[in-house]
Amino acid sequence: MSDLKQELSRLRHTFDEAIGVVQGHSSQAVEQLRVQFLGKKGELTSILRSMGQLPADERPAVGQLANQVREHMESGLEGLLATIKSNERELRLKLDRIDVTLPGQRLLQGTRHPLTKVIDEICSVFVGMGFSIAEGPEVELDEYNFELLRIPEGHPARDTQDTFYITDSMVLRTQTSPVQIRVMKEQKPPIKVVCPGKVYRSDALDATHSPIFHQIEGLVVDRGVTMGDLVGSLQLFARQLFGEKTEIRLRPHHFPFTEPSCEVDITCWSCGGTGCRTCKGEGWIEVLGAGMVHPGVLRNCGIDPEVYSGFAFGIGVERTAMGRYGIDDIRNFYENDLRFLRQFR
Ligand code: DAH
Repeated sequence: MSDLKQELSRLRHTFDEAIGVVQGHSSQAVEQLRVQFLGKKGELTSILRSMGQLPADERPAVGQLANQVREHMESGLEGLLATIKSNERELRLKLDRIDVTLPGQRLLQGTRHPLTKVIDEICSVFVGMGFSIAEGPEVELDEYNFELLRIPEGHPARDTQDTFYITDSMVLRTQTSPVQIRVMKEQKPPIKVVCPGKVYRSDALDATHSPIFHQIEGLVVDRGVTMGDLVGSLQLFARQLFGEKTEIRLRPHHFPFTEPSCEVDITCWSCGGTGCRTCKGEGWIEVLGAGMVHPGVLRNCGIDPEVYSGFAFGIGVERTAMGRYGIDDIRNFYENDLRFLRQFR
């Protein structure tokens, strides 16, 4: 047997040993083997190069053997690479596996604030009657908050609305009624709006007072609007919000921007009218102020009171929410205590 044949068998043997060691290693290790044995400067290549020096009659046999050795190496490397790749894939799948039996992560879900809930409920009752929603700024002109509503400087109604002044001519609005002015200055009748929002008064915080609270203003202006329309609308509102058996009662009152004016009571939500602690034995609970829009206010907004008339009302949101949910301290609404808020899920 020629030296080259011996060398080829030895090389095949060395290769088999090397590939045995590489089993279970990475695909880079396989590539290194390929370079070592089959690469341009590899061991097989250098044997093949020296074939030229063989006598011509020996060449075919040696050449055939060299080809066999090369095929043996190629298929060995290929098989090993396939095994390593599939092991690697399996390992990756094992590491990536999601354990669907693990307990899930709990998503914290918020809830609407009870005041937001009551505002949404009241507004949607009026939207159902064809009202739209209007809004105005919380920093308001003194002119809109007071003057054009017929509350001039020195008027006693200013004393009952202890006001946060920003400048001489600007205030934190003490009521949502200035939104009436804004709407009437911008829109021509027919007008039908409810205006929810925050209002501010320089009151000390206690169980029933807060320097910030919420109101919902209502305004209807059209030809031929009467007190009967006011009563009908408020009755529908009271029944939808507090139940079919609810009655309303109007008591004469005074507001500078309505004439006539009234305070509106509804049958007590707690006792149904027989008298209890909630209504202090009255059977009635006051929920809002209302009246026919004063002709002077219409005129202030460029609406002719000879042609148009209207009614307005203002609902206290906190008071309504406290009644509905049996809350006895207004401060609960503003303290963000989760034990309180979670009860409104
Ligand atoms: N703005 C009044 C207040 O804050 C409430 C009110 C009374 C609004 C009568 C009205 C109304 O629109 O007609 O006390």
